[in-house]
Amino acid sequence: MLLGSEKRPLRVAIIGAGPSGFYAAGGLLQQSEYSVTVDMFDRLPAPYGLVRYGVAPDHQKIKSVTRIFDRTASSPRFRFFGNIDFGTDITHADLKQHYDHIIYAVGAQSDRKLGIPGEDLRNSLSATEFVAWYNGHPFFSDLDFDLDCETAIVVGVGNVAMDVARILARSIAELKVTDIADHALERLERSRVRDIYVLSRRGPAQAKFTNPEIRELGELEDADVIVRADELELDPASEKEIAEDPRAARNLDILREFAARQPSGKPKRLHLRFLVSPVELIADDDGIVASVRIERNKLEPNDSGYLNAIGLGEFETLPSCLALRSVGYKGIALEDVPYDERRGTIPNREGRVIDPASGKRLPGEYVVGWAKRGPSGVIGTNKPDALETVRLMLEDIAATPPAPQPDPASIDAILEQRELQSISIDAWRILDRIEVAEGEKQGRPRVKFTHVHEMLEALEQALKMPVAD
Ligand SMILES: Cc1cc2nc3c(=O)[nH]c(=O)nc-3n(C[C@H](O)[C@H](O)[C@H](O)COP(=O)(O)OP(=O)(O)OC[C@H]3O[C@@H](n4cnc5c(N)ncnc54)[C@H](O)[C@@H]3O)c2cc1C
Ligand SMILES: NC(=O)c1ccc[n+]([C@@H]2O[C@H](COP(=O)([O-])OP(=O)(O)OC[C@H]3O[C@@H](n4cnc5c(N)ncnc54)[C@H](OP(=O)(O)O)[C@@H]3O)[C@@H](O)[C@H]2O)c1
Repeated sequence: MLLGSEKRPLRVAIIGAGPSGFYAAGGLLQQSEYSVTVDMFDRLPAPYGLVRYGVAPDHQKIKSVTRIFDRTASSPRFRFFGNIDFGTDITHADLKQHYDHIIYAVGAQSDRKLGIPGEDLRNSLSATEFVAWYNGHPFFSDLDFDLDCETAIVVGVGNVAMDVARILARSIAELKVTDIADHALERLERSRVRDIYVLSRRGPAQAKFTNPEIRELGELEDADVIVRADELELDPASEKEIAEDPRAARNLDILREFAARQPSGKPKRLHLRFLVSPVELIADDDGIVASVRIERNKLEPNDSGYLNAIGLGEFETLPSCLALRSVGYKGIALEDVPYDERRGTIPNREGRVIDPASGKRLPGEYVVGWAKRGPSGVIGTNKPDALETVRLMLEDIAATPPAPQPDPASIDAILEQRELQSISIDAWRILDRIEVAEGEKQGRPRVKFTHVHEMLEALEQALKMPVAD
C-alpha cells in the first residue's frame, strides 16, 4: 500500500511539544499532498515547551502563540501523549517499530558552563535552572538556593540574561499579576537582593540582547538601571560593527541614555557592566557563594575578525550571594540517537539526521528547532526551520521503509502494558482550564501546577466530577 495514501497514512512520531514540534506538526497536517497522522510525545504533562517554561512570566503577550499550536492539536489526525519520556518510557526501538518517520524536537535541555573555580558552589546556578524554577517547571520546582543577601550577578548579555535580571529586579506588585510560579513569588517577596550586576565579557557593540529587552530595563518600577559611561567607549573594530548593525546601534543609544541618568533612589539597582569576566566564585565559611572576582578585558580580533575578550590582568571583587550564568542553553544526548557533543545538537543536514561516523543519513529520522540548529532564535525562527525539515520528509516518502507495525492502537497498548499514565490533549485542556480558573480568582493569567503528581491528582479529581450539561 502506498505510504501517505488515505488507506496507509504516513505515521509520524514527534518527540517534544515545544514550538518546533508544533510547527512541524502543523506543516505536516496542513499540506494536502499526503495523508499524515502525527503522535506527539512530551516528557511533561503540559505542551508548549519553552513557551510555558522559558518565556518570562511578565511577557504574557508572546505566549498567545499557543493558540496556533492549539489549532494544530485540534486536528483529528493529531494525538498528544504528555508525561511520556523518550529514552525511559518509550525507546527508539519502540518508535521505529510503530512509526514511519520520527522527528526529534527536544530543544536544549541543559546549559553551558563558565569553567571557572567555584562554579559548583551553592547559590551558583544556570539561568536554565533559575528560569525553569520561576516558571514552575516540575523538574525544577524544588531547586535548592536562596535569595538571602543583597548582591547577585548575572553572567552574559543575551535575552535570557535580561529576563533573569529583570525578574530579580521587579517589584512584587509587578510579578503578582503574572503566571510566575507561586513558590517563586513567595521566595522573591522575601528576597533581600538589592543590587544586580549583569556582566558582559565583551563590549556594548557585541551585546546579544534586542532593543525592546534592554529598553525595558530602564522602565522598572523598583529598580534604577546603572551603566558606566567609560565602559561604553568603543574601539575602532566595535565602531565598525555598530555602523553595520542597526540593532547594535540602537542598543548603544539606549545604553548611553541609561549612562546619562541620575539614579532616582529606587530600592533596587540593576548595574550593566561591560568588558568584564568572572574568573572565580568565592565561598563563605558555609560553602555558599559570597563574592566574585572579575577581570577587566579588552577586545582583540581573531583571524576571522571575531572580537575576542582578552583579560588585562586587572581584577576587582564584587560581593555576590547568587551567581546566575546565562551563557547559553545546551542540548543533551538522547538514547540511541546520534549526538554532536561540541554543538549539543543532533547531527543533521537541513533536518535529516545523519550518522556522524559515516556521514550517511538515518532513514526516517529528522530533527527540528534548537535540537537541530542549537539554542538560538525566537519562537518564530522555528517555523521556517521546521518547515524545511517537513519539506524534505515529504520528499523522502517514496524511499521510506514503512514501519513494521503501523497500527495506531499499538502505542496505546505499549503505554498501558508499561503502566504509564499519558496525558491526552483533552486531559491537558482540563488542566489548562483549572489553571486559568484559579488565575481568574487572583487576577492572574493562570496559576500553574508545579509538580507532575499535582497534575495527575487534579485530573483524577476533575474526571470524577459529574459533567455539567
Ligand atoms: C528563558 C527563555 C526565554 C525565551 N523567551 C522568548 C520570548 O520571549 N520570545 C521568543 O520569541 N522566544 C523566546 N525564547 C526562545 C524560544 O523559547 C525558542 O526559540 C523555542 O522554544 C525553541 O523551540 P524548541 O521546540 O526547539 O524547544 P523547546 O521549546 O525547548 O521544546 C522542547 C520540548 O521537548 C520536550 N522534551 C525534551 N526532551 C524530551 C524527551 N526525552 N522526551 C520527551 N520530550 C522531551 C521538552 O519537555 C519540551 O517540551 C526564549 C528562550 C528561553 C530559553
Ligand atoms: N524576549 C525574547 O525574545 C527572548 C527572551 C529570551 C531568549 N530569547 C532567545 O533565545 C535565544 C537564547 O538566548 P540566550 O540569552 O540564552 O543566548 P545568547 O543570545 O546566545 O546569549 C548568550 C550570552 O552569553 C555570553 N557568553 C557565552 N559564553 C560566555 C562565557 N564563557 N563567559 C561570559 N559570557 C559568555 C555571550 O557573550 P558573547 O557574545 O561574548 O559570546 C552572550 O552575551 C536567543 O536567540 C534569544 O534571542 C528571546
